[in-house]
Formats: sequence, C-alpha cells, structure tokens
Amino acid sequence: MKTFRNILVTGGAGYVGSTLVSALLREGYGVTVLDTLAFGGLALMPYFADKKFRFVKGDIRDKKTVERAMEGIDAVIHLAGIVGFPACRKDPEGSRDINVRGTQTVVDALPKHVPVLFASTGSNYGKMLEKVCTELSTLNPLSDYAKQKVEAEEIIKKHGEFVIYRFATAFGVSSRMRLDLLPNDFTYRAVREKTLIVYEKNFMRTFIHVRDMAYAFIFALQNYDRMRGEIYNVGSNNMNYSKEAICHLIKNRVDYYLHFADVGHDLDQRDYMVSYDKIHALGFAPTVSMDEGIDELIKASEVIEIKNPYYNV
Ligand SMILES: NC(=O)c1ccc[n+]([C@@H]2O[C@H](COP(=O)([O-])OP(=O)(O)OC[C@H]3O[C@@H](n4cnc5c(N)ncnc54)[C@H](O)[C@@H]3O)[C@@H](O)[C@H]2O)c1
Repeated sequence: MKTFRNILVTGGAGYVGSTLVSALLREGYGVTVLDTLAFGGLALMPYFADKKFRFVKGDIRDKKTVERAMEGIDAVIHLAGIVGFPACRKDPEGSRDINVRGTQTVVDALPKHVPVLFASTGSNYGKMLEKVCTELSTLNPLSDYAKQKVEAEEIIKKHGEFVIYRFATAFGVSSRMRLDLLPNDFTYRAVREKTLIVYEKNFMRTFIHVRDMAYAFIFALQNYDRMRGEIYNVGSNNMNYSKEAICHLIKNRVDYYLHFADVGHDLDQRDYMVSYDKIHALGFAPTVSMDEGIDELIKASEVIEIKNPYYNV
C-alpha cells in the first residue's frame, strides 16, 4: 500500500490551498507550498511556526523552482492556476500558459512513481443535454477556463499515477477569501448591500464546502491504491441547488431585497446536476451543509472587505 508523508501543494496560498494546508498539517503530513502569492501570503502565516511546513515562492512554469519544491516529496496536490472563467477570459493566453503549460511543467518534474492529485472542475461538462453528469458524460467545455482544465486533465492522465477531481463549485470561509463564488457572493451582497439581483434563477448548480475539498484530498491520500488512475466528481448528491434556492436559504436568515431579472448570463452555462455516486461508493461524503456554510459566511461578512485587492470579486 502506498503511504505518503511529504506533500507538495502548488497554489497552497489560495482559497482551497490555505484550507488544505491546515488540514494536512493537522493530519501530520509534511507540507511544502509552491505559490507565486498572486493574492498575498497572509493566509499562510499560521503555518510558519510548524516544523513540517516549508514554503517556496515561485512559478509552476519555472522548471528549476518546481524541481526544488519537489525535493523529498512523495505526492503532489496541484491547485495552482488562474481560476474561474472571468479571470481566464481577461487573459486567455496568459491563463492558458499557467493552467496548461504550468501543469505540463509540474508533470515533467514528477518522478514516475510520485502521484499527482489534480483539482479539475465540473465546468468541464459545460452545457449538458443529459442534465445529470457522470464521469463518463461527454465533456463540452465552453469557457477558456474549462477548456484549459480539460487540456490539463489530459496532461495529468499521461503521467499515469494520478487522481483527478472534478469539483463542484466551492463555497465557505477560507483565510484567502473568494467572493466570486456564488454562495459567497450572494451572502456577502445580502448582508452588506441588502440587495441581490439574480439572473438565470432556475439554473441548477452543485456545491462543495472548501473544507470538504481539503478533506477530499486527504481521503485520496489515504485511499490512493483504490482510487489511482481515475476521475471523480467531487461533491454531494444532496448539494444540487438552483440559484433561487440559495437565495431563499439566505433570505431565511437575512432580510434583503431580492429581485430576479434576466440581466446577464453565466458564460460557462452551468446548468446541470452532477452524480457523485462514484466517490460516494468509496465512502467519501461531504460533511458541511449549505446551511452551515451560509451561517459562517454571514458571521464572516463583517470582516470581509470587498475593496481588498486580494479578493476575487
Ligand atoms: N474554488 C472552486 O470553486 C473550485 C472548483 C473547482 C476547482 N477548483 C480548482 O482548485 C484550484 C484552487 O482554486 P482556488 O479557489 O484555491 O483558487 P485561488 O485563486 O484562490 O488559488 C490559486 C493559487 O494559485 C497561485 N498561482 C497562480 N498562478 C501560479 C503560478 N503560475 N505558479 C504558482 N502559483 C500560482 C495563486 O497565487 C493562488 O494562491 C484551482 O486549480 C481551481 O481550478 C476550484
């Protein structure tokens, strides 16, 4: 059975990464983070006192830096990238360079026996005709972000030792906060701006709490032998919600003005249900509900500053 002790987390200073680093250290793993600190490094501050924590500042496209970060590592969790369709649309070539060529550089530096666990996305399914996506559904990526993730998946697969996770949309509080995630954005606006105008209200989306994303990677490290070489949708069969349903969950807790109007559309055209049967069958089930996530987002709203340049809005 493969066991792992020292883990490299690329993009470890990010929204998912900073939550994951904390969980890995708590579980006793040694953790190296490789990150450019595009959103600063404050989220990593609590970990520098830990002897098992190491930080390498640098770019995943830089071969020498990646090789240095990989010294003594026995598994890589690859999170670094330009995340989400708005950020990739702003700079299609630059984001492709990081999300695709950067992934290739990470894989090229990996010794053959060292696995890579990759954070892909349910956006790869794009606009689906079937409505319920399984890992076998044909991919129909629409945005630059999703197309780059599909290309990156192919690079990861060629390495042979891998687990690919197609995550639902994340939500919840993390040390590096993101406000461009639907539940985070809606809750912030409801609490702080008291107004929410929502388009495509019936579109179905699927969600996972950021701490459960971290837990999913630990689950893969602990169950690698039976998970290797496979792709998994990661989320919960109980966490498919329409946008309207999310608005009402918030409205049960916060009084705000809610208006539905067709004033825009989601470039990824994400309107789907996803089946999580494959990963559920292995014993993985998310632990944080949407209600709990919204409760903590409401509590955190007071300390979240929309003008902070380090938040995606
Ligand atoms: N949050 C979600 O809803 C979600 C869902 C599915 C998949 N994912 C995937 O999870 C991963 C992490 O997402 P996140 O929400 O934490 O995003 P994030 O933007 O908060 O974190 C990305 C991190 O990568 C770093 N980075 C960017 N370019 C880099 C480079 N060239 N070299 C080294 N580091 C670099 C950034 O500094 C940042 O710390 C991404 O791969 C994303 O596609 C996220």
